[in-house]
Amino acid sequence: MAASFGVCRLHFRALGGLDKFCLGLEPQTQVRFTSTTSALKAQTEKKTAKAAKESRTFQAIQEERKEEAERSVLISCPPKINEKKFIDYLSKHGTINKHFFYNSYGANAVVEFSSRESIASLKESINIPAVEHEAAVPFKSRLLSLKWPGSQSSNHPMPKFKEQSPPSINEITQLLSERDTMDEQLQCLTETLQLTEENISLRFLVCSLLRDIAGAYFPECIIRPFGSSVNSFGKLGCDVDMILDLDGIYATSQKKGSGLSLEYQVKRGASERAVTQSILSVIGKCVDQFGPGCVGVQSILQARCPLVRFAHQPSGFQCDLTANNRVAMKSSELLFLYGKLDPRVRPLVFSVRCWARAHSITSSIPGAWITNFSLTVMVVFFLQQRNPPILPTLDRLKELAGPSDKCVIEGNDCTIVSDLSKITLQQNTDTLEKLLQEFFEFYGNFPFNKASINIRKGKEQTKPETTALYIQNPFETTLNISKNVNATQLERFVALCRESAWLLQQKEILKQSSDSPWGFAALLLPSVTSGAGVKSRRKRKLEPASSRIKNLLDSLKIKGGETVAKKGSANARR
Ligand code: GTP
Ligand code: MG
Repeated sequence: MAASFGVCRLHFRALGGLDKFCLGLEPQTQVRFTSTTSALKAQTEKKTAKAAKESRTFQAIQEERKEEAERSVLISCPPKINEKKFIDYLSKHGTINKHFFYNSYGANAVVEFSSRESIASLKESINIPAVEHEAAVPFKSRLLSLKWPGSQSSNHPMPKFKEQSPPSINEITQLLSERDTMDEQLQCLTETLQLTEENISLRFLVCSLLRDIAGAYFPECIIRPFGSSVNSFGKLGCDVDMILDLDGIYATSQKKGSGLSLEYQVKRGASERAVTQSILSVIGKCVDQFGPGCVGVQSILQARCPLVRFAHQPSGFQCDLTANNRVAMKSSELLFLYGKLDPRVRPLVFSVRCWARAHSITSSIPGAWITNFSLTVMVVFFLQQRNPPILPTLDRLKELAGPSDKCVIEGNDCTIVSDLSKITLQQNTDTLEKLLQEFFEFYGNFPFNKASINIRKGKEQTKPETTALYIQNPFETTLNISKNVNATQLERFVALCRESAWLLQQKEILKQSSDSPWGFAALLLPSVTSGAGVKSRRKRKLEPASSRIKNLLDSLKIKGGETVAKKGSANARR
């Protein structure tokens, strides 16, 4: 009774008031009451801290993770490590906030100290190794190797190694088949594939290690991750997209006045692009020749967005370093914001991305495929079309922005609201199952031949050019983010959407059965349209549930010069 009264009071009054109230009670009751109160106080504080963490802006999260990475080291360890001895040894240099172990070309540990001084102290105690028959580049990075003299006893418990790779499609199928509903399957898929806290920390640490190399030329530079490492749609195993951010160098502390002033003498390049290319070319060479653990360095400087690509062996990440690419960072923030607005957005994006990968709609090799970025924008657009809409338009996010959100990059207005609490959403109770099914129907019927996808307006627009797929770049509005996609790839996407929509209409596919994949897991099986069919694999004849879907399927069989884009327009729109 006292406890429930306490809860009530806690709910309506400040904790201090409740403590005062306790003073008038019998001592025994007071002890019990006070301990309940402190437990509740701790619980409330925990909840408040969690809510504060949840409501942090994208920039605040990035800043915090960057700062944590700067206080961290990455250590290659012997296979049988005594965790306690290891932590005790490192703790001589300062308090350790957290640490974890993982495997990539052997055992590795990430150790985060609570202060940067610990890193300085640790570095002072470390030697450059003497290598036989070769010579070492004397670069003191935060990538270290632990030497453990003598053989270690194996009596101590082994540390837990954190998984950094995604499960295989077979494992996913198995896992999903054990769920009870399709909504549970899509949630489970997201939880299984999403980046873990440790994996995100490792991504920021790799950026920070690389910054130490680039910092030799540009001490004020920052290397920031962008894309799926930070937009909340990243899957374990995805690449690390990085930006070399030189904005801090341009920032000036001196106000321009009429009096004397100094400026730096600088070397000039023919264009911004030429300067970016020359900076990336030098940093690429430096990464190649001095960067410990960086292998397979390629400078792809003629690309639309020049980049340096390499593999970072100690983390197992494939990395793409770009420069002067602030719009891409803003796109990451935008997707992050959309992912936070409604709990159905991330499971839907993860499902569509996983489905597309399973059917080779997307690929890790550059080409005429639809990219994960485009697919995510397509999901956002679809969710803007719901009745009532699940996601607001980009124009609405701009309207809600405050003065501090103002952002113009190279003439493009990239302003979006950063405070999520300003956004009011309408009540929409669609299940994930319904949304996935209707996503497939929506794009199985979309008039790709004449309409473009536009999340700024939240409406399809007339296509300004004749490319197969036109998805307006959210911030550089004259550009198409899917210019690379050809008619064949779009045709495959539409065909698979139609087939999946039809499959989901079949009651059988939604029934749980222990011996065959069902629900979303069945959608990952090889497609009817690409040879060995789902139908034959499942040894079950499923008739189309509605004549509309049957017509859609029939239309897939149409042969001839006509493209799916044209066929799509011939079908009745939703
Ligand atoms: P993954 O496939 O998981 O790596 O997804 P991703 O979102 O990281 O995609 P990717 O590595 O291909 O690109 C990284 C980021 O660059 C994206 O998230 C976008 O912000 C941006 N980006 C990718 N492609 C385009 C494009 O065609 N145009 C523009 N403007 N930005 C792009
Ligand atoms: Mg990426």
